[in-house]
Amino acid sequence: MLRSVMAFGVVLVLGLSSRASGGDINVIPQPVAVERADGAFRVTPSTRIVAQGAAAVEAKKLAAALAPAMGFVLEPTTSSKPGERAIEMRLDDSLSTLGAEGYELRVTPEQVAIVAAQPAGLFYGIQTLRQLLPAAVLRPTRVDDVAWDVPCVRITDHPRFGWRGLLIDPARHFIAKDDVLRFLDVMALHKFNRLQIHLTDNEGWRIEIKKYPQLTELGSQMDWNLRHRDGTGPRCFGFYTQDDIRQIVQYAADRHITIVPEIEMPFHAGAEIVAYPELGIAPDRLASLEPQKRWRETSGLVAPRPQTVIFFQDVLTEVMELFPSRHIHIGGDEANIELWTNDPEMQAQMKRLQLKDAHGLHSWFIAQMDAFLSSHGRRLVGWDEILQGGLAPGVTVMSWRGEQGGIAAANAGHDVVMAPTSHTYFDYYQGPAASEPLAIGGNLPLAQVYSYDPVPEAIAPDRVRHVLGVQGQLWGEFIATPAHRYYMAYPRAAALAEIGWSAREAKDYEQFVSRLRHHLERLRVLGITFRPLD
Ligand code: ACM
Repeated sequence: MLRSVMAFGVVLVLGLSSRASGGDINVIPQPVAVERADGAFRVTPSTRIVAQGAAAVEAKKLAAALAPAMGFVLEPTTSSKPGERAIEMRLDDSLSTLGAEGYELRVTPEQVAIVAAQPAGLFYGIQTLRQLLPAAVLRPTRVDDVAWDVPCVRITDHPRFGWRGLLIDPARHFIAKDDVLRFLDVMALHKFNRLQIHLTDNEGWRIEIKKYPQLTELGSQMDWNLRHRDGTGPRCFGFYTQDDIRQIVQYAADRHITIVPEIEMPFHAGAEIVAYPELGIAPDRLASLEPQKRWRETSGLVAPRPQTVIFFQDVLTEVMELFPSRHIHIGGDEANIELWTNDPEMQAQMKRLQLKDAHGLHSWFIAQMDAFLSSHGRRLVGWDEILQGGLAPGVTVMSWRGEQGGIAAANAGHDVVMAPTSHTYFDYYQGPAASEPLAIGGNLPLAQVYSYDPVPEAIAPDRVRHVLGVQGQLWGEFIATPAHRYYMAYPRAAALAEIGWSAREAKDYEQFVSRLRHHLERLRVLGITFRPLD
């Protein structure tokens, strides 16, 4: 469908790269097609934003984005007078060839026009426009003496992938709601459209569930902190109320970002076992212990008896009420299922269900969740371990232990999101460990992130459509503050944004870094504590 546009884009993008040294178009992620012309459009207090209907909703977002630095609000209006210099935003079905997120942006000295088939496309056009303006436009307070000029240009743009995600981990170190909102703002500038929130793990349960109040009363209060055993570090306790969640989901939706909730099971489940020891293996013994002691003894693995299945389905019922995301993530990774093999009750459970071994029990448990989510019109996503033992057709696999899981799943007809440790684990070091803040390990420099292609050759051509996209992980064991989170995320997430959005053929690391130098000025203005380039 998009082939002709892509071909057009490649020629023009290459054209851009040849003038990159003197050019003033430094957009990240790189648009598909950029055609520069002479001159500029100047935004002044008398500039009008012209938009109607759903486009007017997006137009308000543009006005709000420009107002703090410019010091004036461009009131949206529904029509322009002849000869009036205006920013026009318009929905137009004829651009549906660019997909639901594509847009055209045309700038002449007289007019800026952002046109798209869907509101999301207009929103992404706004993000590009923000990057065409001087970086100072991102400043949160009024900036005087800046000419708000937009270079004349014609951009045709659409994303390569429909899933362009990041993951944050408030389970390990709680992330205050306002910090999540700010994180979403920065994601939007990079045209990300998924934020997976790892809401539960051994170290904490971070979402209020009305039916099971102890999940947060006990499960959000555990003092596990890895880095600050002396108690001097930032608090890792806390949880989101259901009102907090509604606010985060709405704030994200306003930025065309879907929040993908992750409720981990059957492993990484220590917090809920502390709260409800009847979920664990050998529950009577767990119940007899103090919560803090219990936490050390849980092993983090639930026992998948029928009541445990009901517990998680109850939790997912409340989760589905809060999160409109079609995809609901249930974890499924790293389960130490040998503990089931050696447990008499679980042996009896396997026998009753006629399952061969503990792998069978793991698959059975995941299948219960899949059937439940599917019956509510949702789709289960899990880490690639869920492939073991076979999968129902509608399940989506997130490939983290390299690409093999993603390749196998896509070739078997499953949707996949590529999230391999080798290229997308932003909790890894990004330079020599001795000169970096303490991290979990690994080594993932910026260039390696940028080199990633989410469609491995081993995926059959007719299965490539199953690659939904790519996601970067900010696991939180060692990330306790927003400043550190931004340091680990950027600029690697800028590279990932480009992998997820820009045409494969246009990838050019040198040219990316050249644009990135300008982009880092934007992040600086925003107050983002990114890692400087080497
Ligand atoms: C994972 O990093 N265990 C998905």
